[in-house]
Amino acid sequence: MTITTCIFDAYGTLFDVSAAARQAAEQPGQEHWADKWPGLANDWRLKQLQYTWLRAITGEHCPFWQVTQDGLDWAMERHGLGDDPVLRETLLALYWELAAYKEVPKMLATLKAMGLNTAILSNGSPDMLEGAVDFAGVGDWLDDVLSVEDVGVFKPAKAVYDMVGARFGTTPDQVLFVSSNGWDAAGAAGYGFRTVWVNRTGEPMDRLPHQPHEVMSDLTDIPKLAGA
Ligand code: LAC
Repeated sequence: MTITTCIFDAYGTLFDVSAAARQAAEQPGQEHWADKWPGLANDWRLKQLQYTWLRAITGEHCPFWQVTQDGLDWAMERHGLGDDPVLRETLLALYWELAAYKEVPKMLATLKAMGLNTAILSNGSPDMLEGAVDFAGVGDWLDDVLSVEDVGVFKPAKAVYDMVGARFGTTPDQVLFVSSNGWDAAGAAGYGFRTVWVNRTGEPMDRLPHQPHEVMSDLTDIPKLAGA
């Protein structure tokens, strides 16, 4: 089946989530924790995601901003930074201004020039996603930004992936779904999308019932795959 629609996860896929901790560590006066930023960024991300899954399982949904703060609080405490409210505010503010990976603008522009539908499908709440898209300047190449807030449950719940067909009138096999989260790519593959896992750091494949169709190290070749 021909691909008509390319759907992207947001955090970690289009936007570099580790940039917040890295940029905060580079600011003057932050030398006391600067060497901890990779561990902090990793724990922040892991806890943020765990909380989404747990809230999806227990039916206690909340905005993604809540689990983003909860994950950060856990990670800061773990790294001995729990009593630094200024750093907390700095990190949270930077989360609204994450850099897009460098190949993103050209990749999205190429997909639009090919006549494909493009959209984000993210756990992020609409205000967070609007901030990220505006900051990265990629809104002109996206037909829509779909947030799980419309269905009130986090990925990989089926109701989230259903939003794509509801918006674009597609069948799952017309959709190329791209995520840097192995579990998200696996969930989307199980749903029936054609999927790409963007594995920038050489992570092992998640041991889940479904696997992504393709693995790429960045987003450069997405248009080639979508047009094949
Ligand atoms: C998202 C998270 C999972 O954007 O990265 O949905």
